[in-house]
Amino acid sequence: MSDEESTNASDVVRRERFSGGPAREFLSSLAADRRIFAADLAVDRAHVVMLDEQGIIDGEDAAAILAALRDVEAAGHGELPDGEDVHAAIETAVIEAVGQRGGKMHTARSRNDEVATCLRYRLREDVLSTVEAVIAAREALTEAADPHTETVMPGYTHLQPAQPTTVAHYLLSYESALARDTERLLDAYDRLNRSPLGGAAFAGTPFDIDRERTAELLGFDGIVENSMDASSARDFLVETTAAIAGLATTLSGIAEDLILFANKGYVDLADDYSSTSSIMPQKKNPDSLELVRGTAGDATAGLNGLLTVLKGLPRAYNRDLQRAHAHAFEAIDAVREATDVAAGAATTAEWNRDALTEAAGDGFSTATGVADLLAMHGLPFRTAHETVALAAERADGSVDVETLEEAAAETLGRSLTSIVDREEIVAALDPAESVASRRSAGGPAPDVVRDSLVGVVDGIADDANDLAERRSSLEEAQAALETEVADRV
Ligand code: ARG
Repeated sequence: MSDEESTNASDVVRRERFSGGPAREFLSSLAADRRIFAADLAVDRAHVVMLDEQGIIDGEDAAAILAALRDVEAAGHGELPDGEDVHAAIETAVIEAVGQRGGKMHTARSRNDEVATCLRYRLREDVLSTVEAVIAAREALTEAADPHTETVMPGYTHLQPAQPTTVAHYLLSYESALARDTERLLDAYDRLNRSPLGGAAFAGTPFDIDRERTAELLGFDGIVENSMDASSARDFLVETTAAIAGLATTLSGIAEDLILFANKGYVDLADDYSSTSSIMPQKKNPDSLELVRGTAGDATAGLNGLLTVLKGLPRAYNRDLQRAHAHAFEAIDAVREATDVAAGAATTAEWNRDALTEAAGDGFSTATGVADLLAMHGLPFRTAHETVALAAERADGSVDVETLEEAAAETLGRSLTSIVDREEIVAALDPAESVASRRSAGGPAPDVVRDSLVGVVDGIADDANDLAERRSSLEEAQAALETEVADRV
């Protein structure tokens, strides 16, 4: 097994026999492991503190190793000796610094549980900072929606004018989607935040280790119990990346809408979120939003890449796993940035009220409201639909009471005004009145949207609270680990 150790060669894990040969570079994850350098130091410290507490190594050895880790940290990832990965390189550096007793650091563990712990430790931070970005985006959308509860705009299905709505209702639809993205990320976090450390290669260890203690020192909410599962499982990467790809898909929808709305003159994108052309001097292009839209492709590809690496792997550890986590990290980096950009572009865009009001009634978008009105006065909805559909067909564009009367004469054999007052029909044909009439829960009527804003603001505050709690529990653990280290060094 390549995990066997020597204390007298420059690479403590590989030694001379497995010096790497032509595949040395190919095998090494040291450069990519920069991302988990700090995590590995924390994992090493927690492990050494636990080994000391359990009497598995003595206090002097623990102190020497912890002091060496401090120097390794101060020197930085770039100064590590050569190694197959960050775990081997740090161990090599420790042994170089304190001699063979440095080799006691790797007692009762393997790089298999070590790397799994480092990945979870690091990814926690990335998930929480993404949640922070999503919450900020939700706040920004809510603020942008607030002044627009009465700004009517066209709503689309199949990209055809469908029914009028308002800018606030539209923007808050994305706040709702982002609220679920937040939930999925926090949910993934809670399963991610378990410690595999102590699973060792996969088969546990005869040493009397305390897995709960290392979990606590590293801020995990408990352990991944089965040692084979602990060292092998990467579903935490899958669910995190799936949540990220879902978030990216939400953002791509916002981006696509804004690109279309800018095309129609409904919004003016801020210059900060626009680009120009190197040849066409008049151009103002929505490049940033196009890149947000494209990022959803990267994230989806990342999820696919990850699942493809994992699919069909036998238990327990296989080196394929070294190629799994980059997919998750790359996706999360790109999507966190895209979250800020999408929110910035959406909330700095200026809504063109005149153009929106004019377009809100396009394509007889109030037709459903007229049919609803007739149905509310006793006509079966299907009959009302048929009457209004005939009017739409005849008018080929704008419909008035007269057009509707002609259709009614044909389909119902009676006048509409015998069913409902003329003023009510006129009102139903007006986009703003049409919106105001749709007062069902979650509907676009201005007073309904005003009420729902209260719940939205509360929901954002709750999630911000959940985020802060998770962060402070990590900070507390970090401080406790620092104290344990400081007591020994
Ligand atoms: N660099 C490895 C990874 O990222 C660490 C674990 C190596 N374990 C082993 N048995 N070769 O997966």
